[in-house]
Amino acid sequence: PGDPLVDTHGRVHRDLRISLTDRCSLRCTYCMPEQGNEWLAKSSILTVDEIVEVARVAAADGVTTFRLTGGEPLLRTDIVDVVRRLAAVRGPEGRPVDIAMTTNGIRLREVLPDLVAAGLARLNISIDTLRRERFRELTRRDRLDDVLDGIAAAAASPLRPLKLNAVAMRDVNEDELIDLVEFAVAHDAQMRFIEQMPLDAGHTWDRARMVTQDEILTALGRRWALTPVPGRAGAPAARWFLDGGPHTVGVIASVTAPFCGDCDRLRLTADGQLRNCLFSTTEYDLLPVLRAGAGRDEDIDGMLRSCVRGKLPGHAIDDPAFLQPVRGMNAIGG
Ligand code: GTP
Ligand code: 5AD
Ligand code: SF4
Repeated sequence: PGDPLVDTHGRVHRDLRISLTDRCSLRCTYCMPEQGNEWLAKSSILTVDEIVEVARVAAADGVTTFRLTGGEPLLRTDIVDVVRRLAAVRGPEGRPVDIAMTTNGIRLREVLPDLVAAGLARLNISIDTLRRERFRELTRRDRLDDVLDGIAAAAASPLRPLKLNAVAMRDVNEDELIDLVEFAVAHDAQMRFIEQMPLDAGHTWDRARMVTQDEILTALGRRWALTPVPGRAGAPAARWFLDGGPHTVGVIASVTAPFCGDCDRLRLTADGQLRNCLFSTTEYDLLPVLRAGAGRDEDIDGMLRSCVRGKLPGHAIDDPAFLQPVRGMNAIGG
């Protein structure tokens, strides 16, 4: 315990993504079926105490960033408590940790002041389209106004950098890339476009149809001069200055230019499974460890190390034998 979480490829793990629930207020077609997935059993959902226990051990092992995901993390009724308790976790020598969240923005305005007071440091908000009808079709919910309201609240908050995420989709929003960047700039936020990954509910992902980083850059290059932002350090997004800066746009090219070689992430699902990759088909079950009683820290540490040790050098999307993980994106947390 206390040693850094280094895998067999030399990657040091500093980022733990914690999925707080598999439920969501939207039903994005690329993530969940209309009726939702079969939800995780209530009894298996980690409590705040259990989450904090894992976080304490991870922080002692050198994890510095905790990102809260879902489903939709704001659906957890104890979300402010989760943030407050995690923000109090300390690493070696009392080093503070960084608490971030990825949300769809719904309900954000009402909880944001409490989240900030509780110690949330950064927010990423998903927004795939600015057009109401399109939003309703894509998310199967007519809630664009709620999302826009959440983004406005985030823009008015002290949380920076503020990042907006859009999955770039052929025949869905590929004609909106420039509008989305302008919208982000107007909100002092970084727009980031994501290449769609084979993690969709219907298993209909088709590489040939995917909007690639090259296409995204070509489209944006017609409007702005793009110059690379140096330094990336474990971040999935490569970024470019717009007309020399200070605003930037990012692309998360997990398919055509994966950052697996620098990956520093681990994932904890809402039902207590550790995952070493978005695409992993093996999970490490922390639930019995967390619910076993005394002497847990060493066992949690052991489980974190097993998980890291089992990490492959990268994903195998291009392998003809590639299989999507059984767990849906809504239960992995992105
Ligand atoms: P930052 O630390 O702020 O850059 O956050 P992030 O981009 O890691 O988090 P976010 O939740 O906003 O994720 C944006 C997109 O990046 C989503 O589509 C995630 O699935 C994807 N992503 C996040 N982490 C990884 C990763 O380790 N591997 C891959 N391939 N994609 C990732
Ligand atoms: N490919 C790429 N990104 C995805 N997301 C959800 N499903 C996919 C997918 N199949 C994104 C969401 C959100 C982030 C957490 O992950 O849009 O911005
Ligand atoms: Fe890390 Fe897996 Fe994503 Fe590659 S695909 S960056 S190894 S989580």
